[in-house]
Order: sequence, then C-alpha cells, then structure tokens
Amino acid sequence: QIDEAEVVAFSVPSYACLRRTTLDNHNPVLTDALSLLAENAELSDEDGRGVAFRRAAAVLKALPEPVTGVTQLRGLPCLGGHSLRVIRDILENGASSEVEFTKQSERFKALKVLTDIFGVGAKTAERWIRDGIHSLHQLQESGQTLNRAQQAGLEHYDDLKQPVTKAEADAIGEIVEEAVVSVLPGAQITLIGGFRRGKLTGHDVDFLITHPEEVLSLQGFLLYQKTTRNSYLEAKDGPARPASNMDRFERCFSIFKLADAEKRGTKQTENTPEDTCRLAAHSRWRAVRVDLVVSPISQFAFALLGWTGSKLFERELRRWAGHEKAMSLSSHALYDNKQGRYLKATSEEEIFTYLGLEYIPPSERNA
Ligand code: CTP
Ligand code: MN
Ligand code: MN
Ligand code: MN
Repeated sequence: QIDEAEVVAFSVPSYACLRRTTLDNHNPVLTDALSLLAENAELSDEDGRGVAFRRAAAVLKALPEPVTGVTQLRGLPCLGGHSLRVIRDILENGASSEVEFTKQSERFKALKVLTDIFGVGAKTAERWIRDGIHSLHQLQESGQTLNRAQQAGLEHYDDLKQPVTKAEADAIGEIVEEAVVSVLPGAQITLIGGFRRGKLTGHDVDFLITHPEEVLSLQGFLLYQKTTRNSYLEAKDGPARPASNMDRFERCFSIFKLADAEKRGTKQTENTPEDTCRLAAHSRWRAVRVDLVVSPISQFAFALLGWTGSKLFERELRRWAGHEKAMSLSSHALYDNKQGRYLKATSEEEIFTYLGLEYIPPSERNA
C-alpha cells in the first residue's frame, strides 16, 4: 500500500522571489483560470482574494511540468481551498464552473470592457454599471463626464486593446531615446516592465529614464500624457516615504503615437487634422500605451528592480523584505529597520544581496 502522504511531486518555496519563473508556463489552462478569478476579485474591490488567486497561479507557473492530478499538488504553498477546488474542477471535468460562470456574467463583462478604457479604474466602472452602463456605446450615449485620460482612452480604445509587439517597443525606444538624449545628453533609457522580462507582447511599453533633471520633450509624439511629479526624500528617521521637493521622481503614463513601420523613417511632429480623423483601415499610425519613469541616478537600481515586475514578484519581494528581513523596499530605496539606515545600491544584484536572496534575472521574474 502506497502512503499517499508521501507522494510529493513538486517542491516550491512559498515566496515568489525565491523561485525562478520563466515564461515557459506548463500549466496555462490552470493559470489562466486562476488569473481570471484574480482579475474578477480585483475588479470587485476584493484585493485579498485577488492576491490569493495570483499567488496560487504563480505557484503553478513555477512547476516544471503540467499538473495531471491533484495529488501532485500536496505540500505546495499558496494553494488555498478555493484555488484547489478550481484546479480540481478543471483537471477532473475539463473546466471550472465558477470560471465559466464568471466569464459569462454581465457584471464581469461590463467591468472588463469599461476598465479596458485607459483612465478608468474599478471604482468608476462600478459606478457606471450601477447607472446601467455596460458597454462603450452606452457610455457614449450616457452623457457621463469623462476626464481627459478617459476621453483619450475611449478615442484610442481599439488601438490600445491590440497587444504591443517587441518590434513596436523597440521602435518607440529609439524615438524616446533620441528625444530624451537631445534634451538631456547623458540620460540613460532602459526598457523595463514585461519586455525586460522577455515577453514578446505587452499591454504597454515601460521605460526608465535616469537623469536628475525632469524635462521631457516628447510633445509631438504624445497623444495624451499625465505627468506625476513624485517628490521623494530620504527621511532621517524612518523608512522610505514620499516627502517634499528634493529628488524628483517623475512618472508619465502616456499614449504614444507610433507611425506604421514603413513610415517610421520620416520625422513625426504635430498631430494633423488628417491624423485625428484617420480611418482605422488606412491608419498610418497606431496609439500605444507608454509609461515613462524618471529616476535620479541614486535611485536607479531600486527603480529598475521596482518597475521590471511582474507585479506579483514585486509584491513578494517587498513582503520578503518586510517579514523576513525587517527592511522596507520601494522603487526608491531600501531601508534597514534594525540598523536604522538606508542601504545604497547601484545594481539589482546588490539589492538581492542585501535581502539575502539569490539573484533572479528579469527573465525569471515572470511570477
Ligand atoms: N507598476 C507600478 N505602479 C503602477 C503600474 C505599474 O509600480 N501604477 C509596476 C508594476 O509593479 C510592474 C511594472 O510597473 O513592475 C510594469 O507594470 P505593467 O506595465 O502594468 O505590467 P507588465 O509586467 O509590463 O505587463 P504588460 O506586458 O501587460 O505591460
Ligand atoms: Mn520547460
Ligand atoms: Mn508593461
Ligand atoms: Mn506599465
């Protein structure tokens, strides 16, 4: 007789920052299902449940092969009863009734459509749904007041739903680089986010610009921009927290105007009226979401680590730092609560060392 308790097929540490998670996911059906439930929870203001599903999905992403039976999951961390039920349903019945129900639900569909508009979060979508708005058409008919971000988001809805390719990311990178370096010689531009982790497509392109100054002249390219001047100061008496006007850390969540590949050689300048009323079929450019983060050189390594993702990997790093090392990690700094001081770093490797972690390269941070 086999003691089933001894059937431990996989062993995975519970912190995602102790695991190497590549894009080679052997359990996409299971992780898609759990990610959908996570998304639904997040859209429903149930962040705790969202994180639980994200953690469960991330554990499955780290497995070296497909799961074929629930007994293989014995001893794995982060798999709560709810996630296990979903997994069992899929393994035994081919689908999870909860996932299928959620996918079909009017509420989830409406939340998705509305929050897919750039500038619309769960709160706003919720309010609109309560007013009977479930579709873009209903939104346009409703006479709701949209802010500038939402107007731009609605205007470029179809473009922004199209995944951004690595080729497009590289093309934007060259334009951003040229524009930034022309105003700030010596500035350094680094691709961050999903593309740095090796993803082939993304919902946006993320760049980190390192320079102490903050002037960016990308006017001709930006269809919409919201810049946040995020002042940050190392407080003498406590962990990293925003303070007043010392080091500027600027963020710019923008919509970028990218010419079609065959037109990219020619210089882009103003938005002409012709551009504004282009027909999708004859488009000479597309809109792309671009996030620009500017960090002073002293914070570069922290910004790089903090903006490369994945979101869950970042969350787990901070949890590890706080719970296991009594340190506070942010995209600006690392504070050692025991020593009562900031730990300086110029590379990601140094930060991992401070945290007592083996270095995990970006391509293995796809938790
Ligand atoms: N991020 C953040 N604050 C935000 C948005 C994003 O700190 N308001 C960070 C995330 O934690 C992540 C990185 O920015 O580390 C990239 O986020 P995002 O572009 O949303 O995700 P990607 O991993 O790049 O995935 P995608 O390909 O879908 O863009
Ligand atoms: Mn493999
Ligand atoms: Mn991104
Ligand atoms: Mn982004």
